[in-house]
Amino acid sequence: MTESPPRAWAEIDCSALHHNLQLARRHSGKAIMAVIKGGAYGHGLIEIAKELDKQNLPFLGVANTGEARSLFKEGIKTRPYILGATLQSEREEITACGWTPCLCSFEEIEHFNQLGKDSPIEAHLALDTGMGRGGFLPNQLGEALQKLRQASGIKLTGVGSHLPVADEDAVFTQKQFELFDSMVESIPGRDEKFHVHLSNSAGLLDYHSRTTNLVRPGLLIYGISPLPAHQEFLTCQDCSGVIPILLTGLRLLRCLFCLLSGS
Ligand SMILES: Cc1ncc(COP(=O)(O)O)c(C=O)c1O
Repeated sequence: MTESPPRAWAEIDCSALHHNLQLARRHSGKAIMAVIKGGAYGHGLIEIAKELDKQNLPFLGVANTGEARSLFKEGIKTRPYILGATLQSEREEITACGWTPCLCSFEEIEHFNQLGKDSPIEAHLALDTGMGRGGFLPNQLGEALQKLRQASGIKLTGVGSHLPVADEDAVFTQKQFELFDSMVESIPGRDEKFHVHLSNSAGLLDYHSRTTNLVRPGLLIYGISPLPAHQEFLTCQDCSGVIPILLTGLRLLRCLFCLLSGS
């Protein structure tokens, strides 16, 4: 049986993907952790990861170990970063494979410390600057750092927090930036290799931090700006905004308005 030719399809425009990544880089002046969780926001986890793997990014942000494993199986070299708290059942694999978790609770610190006792795991510390869904509050930071100093199974290589409303509440978000910067400044012994990250797409477009050296865009990479001023809807050579990477095509089967008669 011969296969029917496709009548409708979706394509990824890789040049738009690279344009958007460049724009995020230029606009923020920082390194990029591309967020590819949720199957790269439905654009295709592996296809997008393969393209981003050429870009020498420090991390690809994934939702869970299932996504990290898929990248590993496909030979993607960029290190997966597990966004958000980890389940107990995920941690052995994370440690064995050298993926980067963000530690959101004292319980995670203790568990990863045990798992990393023979070969320390690199991990980031999650700070709660107002989202209220995990991470260490300002009054817990000192104790968390003290526990980490004693945790020979964990090498702390970064710190991050998340902005829930950067596209809609400037006052709240600005307070998060100020709190984050002051919490980071209280962490002793940071060097330039220590990853400090807070901004998602809206955060990197509209806010400034004194301490961050890494941003975590998702939407922007795919060409969707949370802030309309930064959106380009048409592909163009010298765009100053992001370009959607998803293109759809369809085969024209019948034309009702033909020019046969020439009228
Ligand atoms: C922790 C974290 N950082 C960054 C992002 C990227 O956000 P955005 O798609 O708005 O850029 C997400 C997405 O939900 C996230 O969960």
